Amino acid sequence: MSAEDLKRLAAWRAADLVSDGMFLGLGTGSTAAHFVARIGEKVRNGLRVICVPTSEQTRLQAEREGIPLVTLDDVPELDLTVDGADELDSQLRLIKGGGGALLREKIVAAASRRMIVIADGSKRVETLGAFPLPVEVVSFGLGATLKAIEKVVDRIGITASPSVRRTATGETFLTDGGHYIIDIPCGRIDSPEVLATELSTIPGVVEHGLFIGLACGAVLAGTQGIYELGSIGA
Ligand code: A5P
Repeated sequence: MSAEDLKRLAAWRAADLVSDGMFLGLGTGSTAAHFVARIGEKVRNGLRVICVPTSEQTRLQAEREGIPLVTLDDVPELDLTVDGADELDSQLRLIKGGGGALLREKIVAAASRRMIVIADGSKRVETLGAFPLPVEVVSFGLGATLKAIEKVVDRIGITASPSVRRTATGETFLTDGGHYIIDIPCGRIDSPEVLATELSTIPGVVEHGLFIGLACGAVLAGTQGIYELGSIGA
């Protein structure tokens, strides 16, 4: 099975957890796209859900699928959010933001009673950090914010050179909120909570890609089949 097949498998399993009348958060990324497509199919077959997308990319896909959308201003509390992840560990701590949508993803996840991660098995790691940690920052004072992030990682014993994310054509990557992303190639993060707290104290940091205490369960698909972490039921 290809990685794409595994992502689809996990996404379809999670789509079975969605029931009539739910307020649903729609994640971002290639795995979440399979989930959105499946929900679209179910909506066209009569499922009644109202959804909040976590990015412009997901909003456009959901609109094409005919999924009814609202914002968190209309519906501030959701039943469930299903989203991908760049990495997850046994405690359901996540690194997210590889696609640059981490701020909206975290706001939507935090507004949801339950967040379930969908991923192919390669995303499950013993220790977070091989995937560079994305940090969303405001453009004002970028140099000072970069310096402050360097000092934080250095202070907690991580050797890494954070860098401002660029697009394939070399421009500075812009998030849906008009912010920049600084990626930190940590290698390993022994204390995600400490790093999360330290990054949050930097004034130019809008949000970081460590999702701690947000996911209640995960549906993972590996070559051996589907397996679950945590609790995926209601
Ligand atoms: C988007 O910003 C990310 O948080 C994605 O959810 C994450 O990168 C997973 O994406 P894939 O499903 O494409 O691997």
